[in-house]
Order: sequence, then structure tokens, then C-alpha cells
Amino acid sequence: MIAPSILNADFLHLQEQIETINKSEADWVHLDIMDGVFVPNISFGIPIVQAIHKISEKPLDVHLMIVQPEKYIGHFTDAGAYNITVHYEACTHLHSIIHQIRDLGVKAGVALNPHTDVNLLKPVLRDLDMVLIMTVNPGFGGQQFIDYSYEKIRELRKLSAVYNPDLLIQVDGGITLENIQALKRTGVDVFVAGTFIFRSNDPVHTIRELKGKI
Ligand code: DX5
Ligand code: ZN
Repeated sequence: MIAPSILNADFLHLQEQIETINKSEADWVHLDIMDGVFVPNISFGIPIVQAIHKISEKPLDVHLMIVQPEKYIGHFTDAGAYNITVHYEACTHLHSIIHQIRDLGVKAGVALNPHTDVNLLKPVLRDLDMVLIMTVNPGFGGQQFIDYSYEKIRELRKLSAVYNPDLLIQVDGGITLENIQALKRTGVDVFVAGTFIFRSNDPVHTIRELKGKI
């Protein structure tokens, strides 16, 4: 699946950008929520998610790069999230937060920063719908893909074969036509791409090209 991230889209024409995703072969829309505390950047919040939900024909994949996500999960589900991904590094009570998300009828994901070992997720893997392996340090679009990510994906695929065969593996950061095929072969199911899609001349065509590789 392809989940375009609108972080580097043109916010003056947000409606057009969502309509572009609607008419493309994209599977989800990826929404990056940043609080300026967990990551050194502030993006957008609940009212924008609500507005996008009104016109998006694709499910909303909400990536929370915020501290204390448990305070806001209800607001994001009310705003129309299809799945909510929280960061392992931001959750003291991760198990309870995962169930908070699921009890609201929404799919639950956990994201790992580049330095975080996938084995730390073993105790909660069976409770998850998705694990997001960050392939850049979260905070900004347009960064360089971290090569060590391949090893983490391989390890996670092995763990998921034992504990949760239905688990989706998502990658986010630095995804291009150059690396998407190798990542797919390594076991990735969902690809987030921002800059590569929205800084291209024809995002619909670029999404089709990315889809063609997986
Ligand atoms: C980074 C965000 C990403 C970002 C990806 O913190 O989580 O979703 O938009 O952007 P690109 O594809 O430009 O690396
Ligand atoms: Zn993201």
C-alpha cells in the first residue's frame, strides 16, 4: 500500500492536494501530527484532520509524534482516524494506550525511532495492527533514508511470523522509486512517501509509479 504524507504538500491548496490523492491509486492518506516537544517541529492538529476527513475518500492514517498521546486519542478518532500510530518512545504505558485505541474501534500502530530495537515490541506485538519503522528521524520531510532500517525490517518480519502473522509493517521517511522495491522484498507492506510525491511534477503519476513497483 502507498500512503502519501501531506507534510510537504501545499497547505494553501489543501483541498486540491486531498483531491489529488482521491483520484490517485493511493491507499491511505498519512497525516503527521507533531507537537514541538517529542519532535523539533510543529505541524497541524485536530481541526485539520477533521477538515481532511470531510473530503478524503482514502482512510486517514494518523501518525502521532507527540508526548502523552493518551490525552488526544479520543479526539483523533472522533476526527475520523482510520488508524492511529503512537511512538514507542513517547508512551510509558504502551500496552494500555494500544488498547485505548482499539477499544475505540480504530486500528493501532506503534512507531519506532531509528535507534529503537524492534525486539522491545515483542510483548505487545499480538495486540497491534501495524508497526511503523521510522526510516529517518521523525520531525521533517525530505531527509535521507537510513540504511540500517533493512536489518530492523528483517528482524521484525521474523518476530511477526511468530507472534502476529497479520501484522502490517510500514516505513516512513526517504521512500523513493529507488528503494521501494528492495523494501517490499524485505517485507514492508505500507509505504509512506511525502516529498517524493508532492515535490514531483505529477503526484498522481508518481503514486502510480510507486504502486507499480510493489
Ligand atoms: C517525518 C514524517 C514523514 C514525512 C516523510 O517525521 O513522519 O511522514 O512526511 O517525508 P519524506 O517522504 O519526505 O521523507
Ligand atoms: Zn509520518
